[in-house]
Amino acid sequence: MKRAKISIIGAGNVGATCAHWAASKELGDIVLLDIPDKVGVAKAKALDLLCCGPIERFDSSVIGTSDYKDIAGSDVVIVTAGIPRKPGMSRDDLIQTNVKIVKSVSQQIARTSPNAVLIVVSNPLDAMVYTAWKVSDFPTNRIVGQAGCLDIARFRTFIAMELGCSVEDITALLMGGHGDDMVPLPRYTSVAGIPVTQLIAKDRLDAIIQRAKMGGGELVKLMGTSAYYAPAASSIQMAEAIIFDKKRILPCAAYCDSEYGVGGYFVGVPCMLGAGGVEKIIEVELDTAERALFDSSVTHVKELNEIAEGFLQG
Ligand code: NAI
Ligand code: 2OP
Repeated sequence: MKRAKISIIGAGNVGATCAHWAASKELGDIVLLDIPDKVGVAKAKALDLLCCGPIERFDSSVIGTSDYKDIAGSDVVIVTAGIPRKPGMSRDDLIQTNVKIVKSVSQQIARTSPNAVLIVVSNPLDAMVYTAWKVSDFPTNRIVGQAGCLDIARFRTFIAMELGCSVEDITALLMGGHGDDMVPLPRYTSVAGIPVTQLIAKDRLDAIIQRAKMGGGELVKLMGTSAYYAPAASSIQMAEAIIFDKKRILPCAAYCDSEYGVGGYFVGVPCMLGAGGVEKIIEVELDTAERALFDSSVTHVKELNEIAEGFLQG
């Protein structure tokens, strides 16, 4: 069987950790690409990781490069290039710099890996997926943003901490943009099939929802830069679903037009991920309060996209 080729753009914290998770799962051969000034770092991280193979028992090849010809023919490309936020910054503060970076990166990906599925991670996430789509001109099913898998993992973790139970038994749903106005949905969250609302009192659940929404900021405040273990694990969860055509239902930033009445933007919704990328968007019923929260989050995404569009044209 042909091995998958996974290219990761940006060999920083998230990119290198994506390579780590991908290698440890032996998802395929891995290319870690950074700018020419950082090619030494990309090569060194790749070599260091490759040398884990005999210990962790994987045969994936891992190479570092700054040359886009090395990513040619990738099955999946994960875009982590861009600046992360520092304490006091919001994800939105990154937009001007990261539009430029994601624009140049997406042009190169489209040229060298025209059939890949693109997973965008750079922030502000929803606007960066839009940027990558505009520049690459990929069909919308082959461009997807990683945010919901991370946000939901945080939500599930905090629920498990509250209940003292296994994280494995918690399934949850979260929608909207990857901002502090993301929308965790307790009505669609359960513990081994039991609605979470029956197990956790409303005031505690509200506090958990708030912590999940601010989870990225909590980590930035603690370590001075943004998180990378769970962001990378989430990105690789998506890559795995695509590479093995698993048809997983995961919350991802996907292109919604008539879906949820969004009108042509990338926002977090439950998706079926398989070899074709986003193979289906699942429309769940939202009550009035949930709908209002979702609409407000989508409005924020639209505003960010307009700003991104301005920088794209400029
Ligand atoms: P980092 O600073 O550790 O790494 C970013 C890397 O991108 C650097 O090595 C840099 O040299 C590289 N880079 C910059 N311009 C490039 C270009 N034109 N081509 C190739 N590489 C380029 O940052 P970190 O922590 O890895 O975060 C990366 C991005 O991911 C940030 O925008 C951050 O906000 C975002 N992020 C998104 C998450 C999500 O859930 N969507 C979660 C965590 C981070
Ligand atoms: C996070 O949520 C910064 O988006 C990144 O950790």
